[in-house]
Amino acid sequence: MNYARFLTAVSAARKPSPIRILTELQQRSPPSLISLAGGAPNPNTFPFQSASIKVKGGEALVMDEPLMKRALQYSGSYGIPELLSWMKDLQKSLHNPPTAGYSSERGQMEMCVTTGSQEGLCKIFEMLVNSGDNVLLDAPTYSGTLAALQPLGCNLINVASDQHGMIPADLRKILERWDPADAQKPGSSVPRVLYTIPNGGNPTGASMTCERKQEVYELARKYDFLIIEDDPYYFLQFQKPWAPTFLSMDVDSRVLRTDSFSKILSSGLRIGFITGPKPLVERVVLHIQASTMHTSTFTQLMVSQLLHNWGPGGFLKHIDGVIEFYRSQRNTMLSSADKWLKDVAEWHPPMAGMFLWIKLKGIKDTQQLIMERALEKEVLLVPGGVFNINSSDPCPYVRAAFSLSTPQQIDEVQHTFTDIFINLFYIMPANSIYRCILIN
Ligand SMILES: Cc1ncc(COP(=O)(O)O)c(C=O)c1O
Repeated sequence: MNYARFLTAVSAARKPSPIRILTELQQRSPPSLISLAGGAPNPNTFPFQSASIKVKGGEALVMDEPLMKRALQYSGSYGIPELLSWMKDLQKSLHNPPTAGYSSERGQMEMCVTTGSQEGLCKIFEMLVNSGDNVLLDAPTYSGTLAALQPLGCNLINVASDQHGMIPADLRKILERWDPADAQKPGSSVPRVLYTIPNGGNPTGASMTCERKQEVYELARKYDFLIIEDDPYYFLQFQKPWAPTFLSMDVDSRVLRTDSFSKILSSGLRIGFITGPKPLVERVVLHIQASTMHTSTFTQLMVSQLLHNWGPGGFLKHIDGVIEFYRSQRNTMLSSADKWLKDVAEWHPPMAGMFLWIKLKGIKDTQQLIMERALEKEVLLVPGGVFNINSSDPCPYVRAAFSLSTPQQIDEVQHTFTDIFINLFYIMPANSIYRCILIN
């Protein structure tokens, strides 16, 4: 695959930092190596000495003095080797990517650690998206994606979706505007990037079926575009077996996948991963070299120690516990919704993630309902419009998260919210200002 044709001028111009190359080299060298090369500070001058972190139901993570010195020091831009190799093994065992055995020119599977998957996404977009480019996605979508993409000045093309995610027939219809043969031509307007959240979508809770992924992948082959698979809710799928991923189908090396530990280990530690064709992951790493240099070494060592103590079996056992929690929260959310909202709203039960996407009947836009009336009664949901490509477009949806609140709170919010809505919509006089704003 000709990866050069996908790169923005900014990304193509990135060159390796000579100092960073030495840091990578040093990271792989035996401890006997004496280096006067790097400009690293002397960790003996740092105030932190050692650490012991209690782990629920498991061995404590102990960072003795030598390890602590490493944790406090600069490290390589791809990520620390022991975390990377653990993650590569996990990725291979979960997705069996065809690209794992490819040569690097053919787009061999490569990985790097990012400071949350948000950093990975933002850098992927900067690598691939020029001003004026056509980018395919299924909106409503994660507002963090819109925040990263929109300033690039691209043209976001909305592919229709439902509770099973992006609809391939709509994608096909959109792509029929172009001749696939034009994709390779310089300056062609054929989209070069498609972005999607395949499991437990934020905000819609939608999960894409395997058949749809296969159809989308075939279209990507026909029109030669890359697929960005943003999958932070992969580990929060309520049903087993987990759905096959785009990465698992990627015979051409055209998928860039972002994973996140935010929903399963910690969101504050900021650990994410990019998995994709080596020539593209290398470009992202050049960007990391020039910006954050690397994700916190301390954080990576902490997570890596935990994962090595657990082993893949322990990791998956932990995930099972997390899924159990979210499944029960989802069920609470659904039974409260059935109890209170049945007559005034509709929704689809999410099969993954932490969100219920609720469509209120008979209302055009939920912004004012939430920001004024609901807040006044001390309940908060997200008005759906913020996830639209144009956030001022009216939207009858609200996003309700079932991650943090207790079952009682989930029930109370839906009860209060329903009361507010019914009062406004059904009881308030027809000429009331609020009613006019909300319904029209
Ligand atoms: C769809 C989606 N992508 C990416 C992210 C960013 O996650 P992280 O914490 O890994 O940066 C989020 C966070 O909520 C998300 O919902």
